[in-house]
Amino acid sequence: MNLQLNDKVAIVTGASRGIGRSIAKILAAEGMRLVVVSRSQQQLEEVRESSRVETLVVATDLRDPDAPATVVAAAIARFGQIDLLVNNAGATKRGDFLTLPDADWMDGFALKFFGAMRLSRVVWPFLKKSQGSIVNIVGIGGRTGSEEFTIGGSVNSALLNLTKSLADRGVRDGIRVNAINPGSILTERLQTRIESYASQHGIDESTAPALMAQSFGVSRFGDPEEIAQMVAFLASPIAGFCQGSIIDIDGGQTRTL
Ligand SMILES: NC(=O)c1ccc[n+]([C@@H]2O[C@H](COP(=O)([O-])OP(=O)(O)OC[C@H]3O[C@@H](n4cnc5c(N)ncnc54)[C@H](OP(=O)(O)O)[C@@H]3O)[C@@H](O)[C@H]2O)c1
Repeated sequence: MNLQLNDKVAIVTGASRGIGRSIAKILAAEGMRLVVVSRSQQQLEEVRESSRVETLVVATDLRDPDAPATVVAAAIARFGQIDLLVNNAGATKRGDFLTLPDADWMDGFALKFFGAMRLSRVVWPFLKKSQGSIVNIVGIGGRTGSEEFTIGGSVNSALLNLTKSLADRGVRDGIRVNAINPGSILTERLQTRIESYASQHGIDESTAPALMAQSFGVSRFGDPEEIAQMVAFLASPIAGFCQGSIIDIDGGQTRTL
């Protein structure tokens, strides 16, 4: 299938590792030129070196309110256009609601919600010009609450609402805004949870993933590429009627509508 993304320009946040790195790889394979963003200059340079397309590295902390404008200005200075924004960067703390301090709540919202909101706002006029799109990588915790994930769940719900709200505006401006809710995807973040699951249950780390997946009601964990392929599809004109779509990719973990 020709996704018609060749030569278009994508900003991918959180591209230094995990799902974001995979998204950068898949979009590059489709011929997109890239702006890769996270705090780690060195890891982003590795992404740039392994990429066969023109790639601009912007190392910045997206919790900083000025960072989104810097990212977009750098992208325009280099490429003169932006066709896709992938808001993927996120880091929210799990834990007991009664002991999670305000600072962790502020931090979770500062990056994943406010970072995405500000980037969307500053990139909007350029996407309007290119008739481009935004894909938000959110998470199934935005649909289903759980006591260990109060911050992440709340941030994700807010970002899902913002997706729908911007999609509403996007109808007028010719910008498509969609979201993907990953379930449990095998990245470093999940690996850490697998390690603590193994030690909590006194089991071997090699058997822990299968048991943990079973306890979530799924047959396996997902691969980052399974999220990245959907990003490429949503970014493509082929998905032209997807507007405000929220797609769960979770192996069936979410049973509710
Ligand atoms: N993995 C899953 O199972 C899963 C499930 C549901 C939702 N998600 C969501 O999917 C997204 C990616 O998850 P992942 O598992 O790939 O996470 P990850 O491996 O922890 O990667 C997070 C990315 O965000 C970047 N980042 C963190 N803090 C940042 C900051 N202050 N400023 C700029 N960039 C920052 C990190 O790079 P630096 O450290 O270099 O800054 C990294 O590139 C997240 O939004 C996550 O909530 C993941």
